[in-house]
Amino acid sequence: MDADSLLNPERRMLRRMQEKPGHEWSLTEILEACQWKDQAVAVGAGHGLTNGGLVKTKENSSSLVRLATEGVKAKESGLLEARLWSWISTHEEPSMANLQSNFERHEAGPGVGLMKRLGVQMSNGAFAAENPEQVTTQIAERTAFIQSLPQPENSLDSDMLEHFKSRRGLIESVVSTTRTWTLTSAGQAVASDSLVEKQFITEITSELLQSDEWKDAEYRPFDVTLESSTPRTGRSHPMQALIERVRSIFLEMGFSELVDDYVQTAGWNMDALFIPQDHPAREMQDTFYLENPQSIELPKHLTDAWGAIHEHGGDTGSVGWGGSFSAETSEKGLLRTHTTVNTIQYLAENPTEACRVFSVDRVFRKEAIDRTHLPEFHQIEGIIMEEGANLQMLVTTLKTFYAKMGYPEVRVRPAYFPYTEPSLEIEVKWRGKWLELGGAGIFRPEVTEPLGISSPVLAWGMGLERLAMLVLGLDDIRQLYISDLEWLRNQPIL
Ligand code: PHE
Repeated sequence: MDADSLLNPERRMLRRMQEKPGHEWSLTEILEACQWKDQAVAVGAGHGLTNGGLVKTKENSSSLVRLATEGVKAKESGLLEARLWSWISTHEEPSMANLQSNFERHEAGPGVGLMKRLGVQMSNGAFAAENPEQVTTQIAERTAFIQSLPQPENSLDSDMLEHFKSRRGLIESVVSTTRTWTLTSAGQAVASDSLVEKQFITEITSELLQSDEWKDAEYRPFDVTLESSTPRTGRSHPMQALIERVRSIFLEMGFSELVDDYVQTAGWNMDALFIPQDHPAREMQDTFYLENPQSIELPKHLTDAWGAIHEHGGDTGSVGWGGSFSAETSEKGLLRTHTTVNTIQYLAENPTEACRVFSVDRVFRKEAIDRTHLPEFHQIEGIIMEEGANLQMLVTTLKTFYAKMGYPEVRVRPAYFPYTEPSLEIEVKWRGKWLELGGAGIFRPEVTEPLGISSPVLAWGMGLERLAMLVLGLDDIRQLYISDLEWLRNQPIL
């Protein structure tokens, strides 16, 4: 073994030991010779030297018998039999009845048993011993035993040990290990001038880096295999961290964020998006309609415009859905089922200004909770409105977003939404499989024309929890919301 690789404590310990070759060093001797206070340093250094073959360790495990909780009390105030015996011997009327008023209930019962086994019997309501001297001697022996502890187990009288082991809480055995160290010939052969303790650099400062010293300096080595405790500090919930990441990606791509209420009207949530009023998704199983507010008034010009579109296509050249449109249905209050309800209102307010807007927000659907469904979840929504915007641009934008998230393989497939044409489904490759993450498309004229929107609008909406499942490798979406501290602590920083 090369002395060069020895750590400072090992160097010191080896050097001291070389001063007395052949000596078997105890821990106390090592601590004193090396001027250490911490046993762990000595044991650690001894371990290192032993691994290097420079020192031999002898370990001795021995069992020590010491007082347990009840034993400590007995040592202070006497064993129960000793106290009872002195009471019996001195009391004028050592009867059972008197015993109970002089000793605690939990002591009286076992006490009588103890006395009986020592040969002190109850007769005619009083205690009497056949051989009082013997009782006194036996009790004195027991007391001496208790007073003598702690002692190595093998030095103790085995009958006495058995006796006290059978009584609860008086004594206990602990195994203690003692070590001694002896120099080996290899240890002896290490040149002592190579055992000078090195000055290690523990901190890299700018002065050090600016000077030339760092080139020849010795750095304190770190043992990365040692166990260490993980610092537990407060941190964002993984969902929040993911939202922040999505946000920063869109901001970086030149989008501005839109934040809006989740209490909305059926009109904006559906009619404005040309979702027919008899569409199954409007039924109770999908949408949470509100009792309060049950309905929210909408400007008549809006419901009229949507009515015209739905019934016959308005001026768009579309034939609409036919049937008759109900403004009352439009005014129903609900919890938004998608964030498209907010982007469409943004467009209605800003119909002619080119824009790039996104939101990451909560939506609600009447879903049964299972591995992949929650009634409350988040959508990542976005729109681009500008002259000449086209499908290619939409696909590129989505691909760029997912590439920045770390998923370079994205594909789109034809899909259907009542409010977009063409419509797309976005899929991301994960662990060799294509996973559907959301929908996208270009808003139909039935959506844009009544609101006076002139340029093409590219739109998309994607599930955030689905993305979280990918990022965090989850099989069950519910894991995100069950406040499992252990799991939360072990999540990567996103
Ligand atoms: N709103 C759709 C959904 O909730 C997603 C979507 C948004 C589709 C925009 C096309 C355009 O699934």
